[in-house]
Amino acid sequence: MAKPWVNSAQRIGSDLHLELSGAGGRRAALIDALREAVRGGRLTPGTRLPPYRSLAADLGVARNTVADAYAELVAEGWLTARQGSGTHVAERAEPLRPRHARVPVRTPPRVRGPRHDLRQGTPDASTFPRAAWLASYRRALQQAPNEVFGPGDPAGRVELREALTEYLARARGVRTEPGRIVICSGFAHALRLLSRTPVLRGTLAVEAYGLPFHRELLADAGVRTVPLPLDEHGADVGRLTRERAVLLTPAHQFPTGGPLHAERRAAVVGWARARGGVVLEDDYDGEFRYDRKPVGAVQGLDPERVIFVGSASKSLSPALRLGWMVLPERYVDDVLAVKGEREAWVSVLDQLSLADFLSSGSYDRHVRRMRQRYRSRRDRLVAALAEHAPHIEVTGVAAGLHAVLRLPPGTERSAVKAATWAGIALDGLAEFRHPEASRTRMPGHDGLVVGYATPSEHAYGAALDALCRALPPETPETP
Ligand SMILES: Cc1ncc(COP(=O)(O)O)c(C=O)c1O
Repeated sequence: MAKPWVNSAQRIGSDLHLELSGAGGRRAALIDALREAVRGGRLTPGTRLPPYRSLAADLGVARNTVADAYAELVAEGWLTARQGSGTHVAERAEPLRPRHARVPVRTPPRVRGPRHDLRQGTPDASTFPRAAWLASYRRALQQAPNEVFGPGDPAGRVELREALTEYLARARGVRTEPGRIVICSGFAHALRLLSRTPVLRGTLAVEAYGLPFHRELLADAGVRTVPLPLDEHGADVGRLTRERAVLLTPAHQFPTGGPLHAERRAAVVGWARARGGVVLEDDYDGEFRYDRKPVGAVQGLDPERVIFVGSASKSLSPALRLGWMVLPERYVDDVLAVKGEREAWVSVLDQLSLADFLSSGSYDRHVRRMRQRYRSRRDRLVAALAEHAPHIEVTGVAAGLHAVLRLPPGTERSAVKAATWAGIALDGLAEFRHPEASRTRMPGHDGLVVGYATPSEHAYGAALDALCRALPPETPETP
């Protein structure tokens, strides 16, 4: 059966790149362009071509030019024409096969996602503020001077660095100026860049629990990480010894969930001053605090001793790949030098959109709305557990997009297995433990990390029910 002409005539002119150029006149040029489109497979056998009049209008040629070109290609066998049903690409006009066509292309098997996705890491993807982002994008594009479309600045657009300077001071207590901010594509990118500078050369102290992806990235870059024990006050920074740098998540320890205690915040800055060291502050979800005002950045205590890194991955979307580094002045040139070539930069239009999104107040509005939504999700999680699994302690719930359910020692693996059987995707705390922390028997806990932001609103209730059913029952006290 003939395929309908699904593309508009406009699209044949642009998508199929019908370039009517050449010395032989417009008719010959159109014949060549159409023949090439069929031969190359852009017009597949059976496709109905647009009527003479519409293609002629789109290409700015006379109607007869199109009629003559179609007639010529019918005569050559590329096209067929039937009274009353228009002109089609001939069935026997075989498109040129791509060079590797003989290698069978295997479609990847369709991986069915879990029925209930409670993995940490992703904000509710259905809440991306499409309309507000589009408005910012449009304004940014309309107002951008022409030089935006030329070679850029490795530090990133100044408009974004100015907007971040204001926002980070107001929302996170960060003390900086645009000249000390370098735009990157997120925390992972910042780590990659810093690991190529003298800043992270050698050994880096990290929290005993953290994102394995970051540890692996550092290991690949030749940076050795050593774990710092964690307790109820956060990382035990008093154990810092010969290291020159320490990576911390002070606002909301990842993944165990508490803030770094005020005394430890002061202590780690004191350590950095005394040792000539540096604190790398990962502020991945600092805006999402539910019990009081967000805990300010450690960077505010000493901008010359702390590198602050923020990201839009939790507040907006990890797909945007937008982040920012706030650097002590002495590191700015080193970071810009390694950023160097253009492939390590972030799209200028995305940067300008985020600048507008911040300065127009859209970012604040979105974060406020999401904070309310995640707080209500957290409250539902806490209430469901109180009702159906009161023997399980929930921790790390004052902030962020995930909670930790504490489990009795030795039960984590079976609890993760039970959740998997129930169609729930989540991780155990052990996933995040530094291998050396296990080897040296650093204190640790059994627990489940539950991301309550990931499911969409309508799926959340069912995910909670499934979780409560899958949790281990209370074990009777042994006398
Ligand atoms: C601990 C931690 N740091 C940082 C990030 C942000 O990473 P990125 O900005 O590379 O997406 C995440 C994930 O969103 C995270 O879990």
